[in-house]
Amino acid sequence: MRVRVRVPATIANFGPAFDVLGLALSLHNEVELEPSDRPEVTVSGEGEHVLPATAANLVARAAERVAQAAGRAGVFRIRCRNRIPMGRGLGSSAAAIVGGAAAANAALGRPLGTDALLDLVWKMEGHPDNVAAALLGGAVLVDVSTGRVAWTRFVPRWDAVIVAAIPDFTVSTVEARGALPECVPLADAVANLGRTARLVAAMTTGEVELLAGALDDALHQPYRRRLVPGMDDVITAAREAGAYGAVLSGSGPTIAAVAPADRADGVGRAMVAAFGRHGHRAVSTVLGIDESGAAVTTP
Ligand code: HSE
Repeated sequence: MRVRVRVPATIANFGPAFDVLGLALSLHNEVELEPSDRPEVTVSGEGEHVLPATAANLVARAAERVAQAAGRAGVFRIRCRNRIPMGRGLGSSAAAIVGGAAAANAALGRPLGTDALLDLVWKMEGHPDNVAAALLGGAVLVDVSTGRVAWTRFVPRWDAVIVAAIPDFTVSTVEARGALPECVPLADAVANLGRTARLVAAMTTGEVELLAGALDDALHQPYRRRLVPGMDDVITAAREAGAYGAVLSGSGPTIAAVAPADRADGVGRAMVAAFGRHGHRAVSTVLGIDESGAAVTTP
């Protein structure tokens, strides 16, 4: 069976929720997949000149893992149409893994349930927050502290949009994880706990006044500052232009602000100008929340 999957971009580490809260965005890649007698991968759009058009492609590897887990043949013809920019902290690798895995699972008659699929994509990606949101849509809280993925999905009720300022440089997630310390001060951990609770309360109740300060982070952003020139100024510029707050998206370098819709254009301009003051061109885009996650259709 031939299937098509639309898979969203994501913000991982949403605000203070390092590695535990992901948000799916209204920006998508598409994967078309069908079982075949020889592997075939084509890529168009973002990454078309750099991503391997072979079985080494992350989409194909994820599809093959699903087939292996189901005890089936893992040879597919795959067509990727990519819109999520790569290396910018918007979950492009999670989208590739989830796109390939969800498409293969659907094409093979859904041998894996949601939890098994989430476990597989988490282990491929190495951290759970992007893949959970890409697979399930909305906002997803994930906890892998027991070695298994426990997840809770909800749709933010706030009256707000996401404004993403995407600069012209990339950050390697491996390098950005390497920048993190082994231990953090207890006061920073406590501050993040309080903010995470307030953030989730703001998102689930829609009370945007709870967002004041709730998007701030002390667990990863300070350590990644040197990889993202202008990070603090861009976050401040977003706030001064009327955003409720702004965060480093995933491991960066994109900065994502949460703002009232009528302030979104001004917030985007202010963030782009702030990156400019640090010598980087950036583009801004206004996004909503994707509620569908990896949505499968049969073309
Ligand atoms: N939670 C991960 C990290 C997301 O910050 O390292 C990477 O995109």
